[in-house]
Amino acid sequence: MATILDGKAVNQQLIDELKPRIAALTEAKRAPGLAVVLVGNDPASEIYVTSKVKTCIELGMRSEEIRMPDSATTAEVLSQVDALNRDAGIDGILVQMPLPKQIDSRAVLLAIDPSKDVDGFHPVNVGNLVGNVPGPRPCTPAGVMALLKRYGIALKGRRAVVVGRSDIVGKPMAMLLMHEHATVTICHSRTVDLAAECRRAEILVAAIGRTAMIEAEHISEGAVVIDVGINRVTSRDEAMRLTGGNPARMAGFDKRGSIVVGDVHPVAMAERASAYTPVPGGVGPLTIAMLMSNTVESAERRLG
Ligand code: GUN
Repeated sequence: MATILDGKAVNQQLIDELKPRIAALTEAKRAPGLAVVLVGNDPASEIYVTSKVKTCIELGMRSEEIRMPDSATTAEVLSQVDALNRDAGIDGILVQMPLPKQIDSRAVLLAIDPSKDVDGFHPVNVGNLVGNVPGPRPCTPAGVMALLKRYGIALKGRRAVVVGRSDIVGKPMAMLLMHEHATVTICHSRTVDLAAECRRAEILVAAIGRTAMIEAEHISEGAVVIDVGINRVTSRDEAMRLTGGNPARMAGFDKRGSIVVGDVHPVAMAERASAYTPVPGGVGPLTIAMLMSNTVESAERRLG
């Protein structure tokens, strides 16, 4: 039987560990503050942002939610970021990606004060990551590392394959695994014979954004599989095929008209992996825990 890497449980542990640190800061100085900027109304971003704000409030942190219209200009977003940079009560600034296409995302990321960059997307923090210098790490890959650590999954000298080369997940994931002494391969849309590359993996991380693209032929028997994907499936036939007709999952489909499936075929993953992250309930919950952790760390640094 494969071990299920339970992101919800680890999320709770991480959140519980933050509580005394937040209490200490609040008592000595003030509550840590996180500002989340959402431009436009992308439905997925709305869900992420709501859940970030909710967690902040539950933890007794200060939360600022700034909503800007879909028509906002780069100058307007930059002016908002500037105000947050100067706000002494804000320790973390997160501008939800993707931004509407008229906005210069690079200019926005560059404008965030690196000491408040809780996403770790500013070039200074990307440099710190590459150099293995302390600093905020992108939340999703940091969450994956926390999960691997909590489950005692060894990385040193092991073959890790990361599928996907995004700035938010693939690239920082590869870097973090390398710093833990894994031998890392990055695969992407132009990789020749993806299945053969993936089968070499003792640790396989899928971060492509394509429903169940990783199948049995990609997974070597006994691999640890980390599925970063979050994809909505709205076809009942497709849901049947992907879940193998799992009654609980299909009941969920019939209730909501869709299910969420990762980048890895769920049945193939459960059959072939020695340990894996389910979707939902695997990597997803950890992203938020790491965002809170980056904000608390920023507050601790800033408040001395
Ligand atoms: N969009 C998807 N993931 C993320 C994330 O981790 N941070 C931000 N800012 N935007 C995202």
